[in-house]
Amino acid sequence: MNTILSQPVSAARMLGFFSLIGIGLVTLVFYITGPKISQNQHDERLRSLKAIMPADLYDNDLVSDTLHVTDISLGSAQPVAIYRARKNAQPVAAVIASSAPDGYNGAIKLLVAIMADGQLAGVSVVSHKETPGLGDRIETQRSNWILMFNGKSLEQPDEKLWAVKRDGGIFDQFTGATITPRAVVNAVKNTMLYFQQHKQAIFSNSAD
Ligand SMILES: Cc1cc2nc3c(=O)[nH]c(=O)nc-3n(C[C@H](O)[C@H](O)[C@H](O)COP(=O)(O)O)c2cc1C
Repeated sequence: MNTILSQPVSAARMLGFFSLIGIGLVTLVFYITGPKISQNQHDERLRSLKAIMPADLYDNDLVSDTLHVTDISLGSAQPVAIYRARKNAQPVAAVIASSAPDGYNGAIKLLVAIMADGQLAGVSVVSHKETPGLGDRIETQRSNWILMFNGKSLEQPDEKLWAVKRDGGIFDQFTGATITPRAVVNAVKNTMLYFQQHKQAIFSNSAD
């Protein structure tokens, strides 16, 4: 009787033993690779930010000096990251990870870099699903269109001219594709308005 019972018991012990070794190995790999993955994510984010925010303009760690806000005018019901650039602890610029929710094929994710005086340092497209050959001209690899935003503000041009030419504004649409540029122009304008209204809180609230 005892011999019959002891076989399943020792099999269960072996199973338990190897499960523990498995869990131990997974935990070890997590602890070894975890910091490396976070560092890679940090570096990747910094690379995208530096593309529109020249590194010599600030002396803080843009990626750590981040806060999240939730405001539908930034194109999403989800929290949106705002990266703050400072020099000698003084506000220099904010990079807002807003979206254009109304692209032709869904949301277009952006980075909008706004100098403290309200002037645009630059806009870049983080991701989109627009149609190749039509809406994808918002990418810098396809055209210079997105560079049109550099140096613009809500005063220059006047706020009512923040629209594509088809809608009476100053921004070019693409031939046969007005929906994509219209969505991006509106999103950048809304992000600028958000910045104008919340500038003080953006730079004074603590990082999260
Ligand atoms: C298959 C297909 C894909 C399209 N993709 C886009 C797109 O990515 N972006 C865009 O603005 N318009 C796209 N369009 C065109 C729009 O339906 C719409 O006609 C156009 O944006 C309106 O611009 P227009 O007034 O300058 O013609 C696409 C049309 C078709 C048939």
